[in-house]
Amino acid sequence: MLGDGRVTELRLLDGQRVARISSPSGLTPAPGQYTLARASGTVDPLATPLFLLRADRGDWLCAPPVPPLWQPETRLDLRGPLGHGFELPSSAQRVAAVAPDGDCSRLLPLMHAALANGASMTLVIDRPPEELPLQVEVQPLRALVDVCRWSEYAAFDVKREHLPDLMASLGRAGVREVGGGAEALVRTPMPCGALGDCGVCTVRSTRGPKLACKHGPVFDLSLLTVEGL
Ligand code: FES
Repeated sequence: MLGDGRVTELRLLDGQRVARISSPSGLTPAPGQYTLARASGTVDPLATPLFLLRADRGDWLCAPPVPPLWQPETRLDLRGPLGHGFELPSSAQRVAAVAPDGDCSRLLPLMHAALANGASMTLVIDRPPEELPLQVEVQPLRALVDVCRWSEYAAFDVKREHLPDLMASLGRAGVREVGGGAEALVRTPMPCGALGDCGVCTVRSTRGPKLACKHGPVFDLSLLTVEGL
């Protein structure tokens, strides 16, 4: 879907700029999906993938980073929602969110959904953010394997280049022991946003190369492999 949007507010969250976006509701991405945005009238060929932070009074907040030139009232050309997002099982009553890179903003909408389902929610992160629902338990990264074994579903947010470190600290056994499955939002540049098959966003999987912009950016973690990265 194509449409127009507008930046209605910029604010700081944990020292990073987040933007409130006003757009037709059909352009709001689901948790883990993205909507591509470009400031209207600019010649910048690269659009920015925007991820949902949370719905906000009919608008939506997008997770950082926000392009530095965007200001309140910046007009946006939007295309989306794109890609495959998180599939939180409604039956999962023990849910983990894991942010090995220290940024859990893209996992927050999933955490809210899990809490709305009545699930117990644990966030694995070394430095928790300022604004976190009180019901969320926080554990450090050294507790990663134990939390995965406890959980019925685990959602990760990781940069593609950090996948080898994550796999090493988790171990394949740890992934398999998550009862309802583990999914990972793999963050990588997505310059063509599934329009040109440029291959920049390629992710290795046991089923061959996959494109984060099209087949992801959320993948079944048990299918990812770090070979060739
Ligand atoms: S961004 Fe070009 S193929 Fe994914």
